[in-house]
Amino acid sequence: MKPAPKNLIKVRRAPAIETELTVPGDKSISHRAILLSAISNGRCTITNFLEGEDCRSSAHAMRQLGVTIEMPEPETVIVEGNRGIFQAPSEDIDCGNSGTTMRLMSGLLAAQGFRCRLTGDPSLSKRPMRRVIFPLQEMGARLSAEGVTQCPPLVVEGGPLTGITYRLPIASAQVKSAILLAGLFAKGQTTVIETARSRDHTERMFEYYLIKFHREDVWEEGPHAVRKLKESRITLEGGQIPESRDFHVPGDISRAAFWLVAAAAKPGSRLLVKDVGLNPTRTGIIDVLIRMGACIREVVESSPHGEPSGTIDIKGCGLHGTEIHGAEIPNVIDEIPVIAVAAALAEGRTVIRDAAELRVKETDRIAAVATNLRAMGVEVEEFPDGMAITGGAKLKGAKLQSFGDHRIAMAFAIAGLFATGETVIEDTDCVQTSYPGFCETLRLIQKGKGIGRRTPVISSLDSKSRRRRNP
Ligand code: S3P
Repeated sequence: MKPAPKNLIKVRRAPAIETELTVPGDKSISHRAILLSAISNGRCTITNFLEGEDCRSSAHAMRQLGVTIEMPEPETVIVEGNRGIFQAPSEDIDCGNSGTTMRLMSGLLAAQGFRCRLTGDPSLSKRPMRRVIFPLQEMGARLSAEGVTQCPPLVVEGGPLTGITYRLPIASAQVKSAILLAGLFAKGQTTVIETARSRDHTERMFEYYLIKFHREDVWEEGPHAVRKLKESRITLEGGQIPESRDFHVPGDISRAAFWLVAAAAKPGSRLLVKDVGLNPTRTGIIDVLIRMGACIREVVESSPHGEPSGTIDIKGCGLHGTEIHGAEIPNVIDEIPVIAVAAALAEGRTVIRDAAELRVKETDRIAAVATNLRAMGVEVEEFPDGMAITGGAKLKGAKLQSFGDHRIAMAFAIAGLFATGETVIEDTDCVQTSYPGFCETLRLIQKGKGIGRRTPVISSLDSKSRRRRNP
């Protein structure tokens, strides 16, 4: 029998973008909204919830644990919180492609009085789980991984937990969140120490759901007398139940990143992304593009539920290479594939280091980016923890692999907008895990059509914008 044809994305060079758009709800925040609502003390309505497969995995997992979840209309979810008292699932919990579901769920399940097995698709089954197993074992839970080198399936035998102080060996919001969620059910205090700041959605949502915790930032003097974060300690007391509240998920800046790069690298483009999350632990993509020469302004318009959101206004101009490393990496970790595409379109060399975590994402993203850029005629040097990209060569259309990774598929669809001839990306069903609607927006951008209103200058941005560079 012939294998089923794999879903393809076909892209050709596009004209300059001149439009405004919105992006779907933030993936990281949607996961957390479901989980925190589920352990709250009542009914929570979540709006602008991301309907991608990853967040559906979190919702499905919660249903398997006996939580009532309704989806009365698109992007709206009603969760009946059960104070963290779950029923043992009758079968394995399938986390699909979602590392966030598996790692955050392990923290919640660590305190339950039953055994439960978490499985995933072939990509998730290769992702490391020791990073959550070790600290949760320290807290008293019994966890084991059935796969080789501590990969899924993950078996969690929950029980009484005791708070710990844990210094994160890698900057990981997933691990930090798993420990903090377990800490809610533990006896005594739990402290997580991070030396590089990872996304702080869990902490912001704790604050909004009225969970008491304390954060202490310790600073040190870095080179050129610049203050540098030495460590950040987050401490909470166990035995707290989130107060049920409604929650609105802002648009996802990691999804906006694809269009920001497409606009930034095409002179003559003008793009406005509205209602997008502007949490400073996620806006590293804006800083990187500004360093590369992009003309960007952003304005925070509201932060009703503790998550700032607003508008990004970007003008296309020529880009040049930059360096990305150290503490900036956790802030742009998901955007590096599309930043690598921007680097290929920029003049000069871009060097990305301290990003070994990319090797254990949905695929080895360093290898995948290098393979695809080389296929398009770009010179790439690979390091164990990053890559150096020599920009400025004309991109050639090519047949590329997604490697089953949504961000690789979408990043190279953006590269195709700048290439000669046709670019074909194979095996793109994975895009549904995080960005339903990506292909429709791509199609409109390729045709040079406005999405919604064509963009006049939004004058209100002038007075309120936080950054204005390269005007
Ligand atoms: C996420 C954290 C990041 C990120 C992932 C989502 C989260 O992973 O890459 O896409 O929602 O907490 P790590 O925490 O493993 O770095």
